[in-house]
Amino acid sequence: MKLLDSIKQKAKNKDKTIVLPEGTEERTLKAANVVISEKIANIILLGNEETIMKEAGKLGLKAIEQARIIDPANFGEKEHYTNMLYKIRKHKGLSLEEAAELVEDPLYLATLLIKDGAADGEVAGAMNATGNVLRPAFQIVKTLPGISVVSGAFLMIMKESHWGENGILVFADCAVHPDPTARELAEIAVMTARTTRSIVGVEPRVAMLSFSTKGSASHPMVDKVVEATRLAMEMDPGLKIDGELQADAAIVESIGKSKAPDSPIAGKANVLIFPSLEVGNIAYKLVQRLAGVEAVGPVLQGMAAPINDLSRGCSVDDIVNLVAITVNQSAGE
Ligand code: ACO
Repeated sequence: MKLLDSIKQKAKNKDKTIVLPEGTEERTLKAANVVISEKIANIILLGNEETIMKEAGKLGLKAIEQARIIDPANFGEKEHYTNMLYKIRKHKGLSLEEAAELVEDPLYLATLLIKDGAADGEVAGAMNATGNVLRPAFQIVKTLPGISVVSGAFLMIMKESHWGENGILVFADCAVHPDPTARELAEIAVMTARTTRSIVGVEPRVAMLSFSTKGSASHPMVDKVVEATRLAMEMDPGLKIDGELQADAAIVESIGKSKAPDSPIAGKANVLIFPSLEVGNIAYKLVQRLAGVEAVGPVLQGMAAPINDLSRGCSVDDIVNLVAITVNQSAGE
């Protein structure tokens, strides 16, 4: 079975609830209809109920009737969520009045619903920029214990099966944290290995990428990757990981053998960790466009509950796929 089909299949009948804050948006509504019909998740839509039902009727989306609809501008539990937000953020100087205003912002209300246990995860970003989706998530849901940074992985589905694991490579961080320290880069590696196990269902072989292989160049940027590799091994002693490696030494068997003959993963890495967001974001977009590769994600990792961000150019299928991934993250699979 293809990766995305198996991800959707695995999500079915898990009885998880995903909140979609952009509830009046057409692609979101169409995706919600598929998700509900195929029993991938229960759905909470945020937005004006009349607008949502009118749009759903126009588009012939019958299953939307089964969604829970919450209008942030007219919500009976507004006071409860205002107090909750005020408690979480008052030490940062947030006033009760500001909290009451923010609760009417669907992106804030979505994360409060998760924090309160009313939803298991969130998918947003069809209409909002990454920063606006992530900020409330960072402030309210926060990171997993022992993890200080959220990062974003892409599942790169190659056309040729000899790359990575049956043609799948996982790239990170391509979406979130601009300039990680060695410690943060180690966390990103460990979290990406976890995502690879749970979402792709394979044992990760992690390459910590640089412009140097095993001391071929010396520079503080290389030192950071070497240190991150050491820290990641400390954090997850069983992890198959090596660095620093150049990209060709990481994924091409003959080059891995010649440049890093003693490496346990050189030439056969299925997870590529980039030294900064600049490199990761540029690399995934170039591979996606130049090689015509399907890039699924970003799958956000390290958050205490799964919240995933869509690209504003996303399709209905992209939203359905990301909801299924979010359900699987929530189920710990
Ligand atoms: N992980 C966890 N928490 C974080 C992270 C992180 N990576 N970054 C910031 N935070 C927390 C901070 O600790 C802070 O929490 P606090 O208020 O409780 O103290 C809060 O988030 C706000 O921190 P700021 O430093 O003020 O962060 P800011 O809101 O300015 O920026 C953001 C965070 C928006 C994610 C920023 O790092 C960013 O813009 N990243 C790039 C995103 C992007 O544009 N990606 C490329 C496009 S996506 C794509 O192409 C697929």
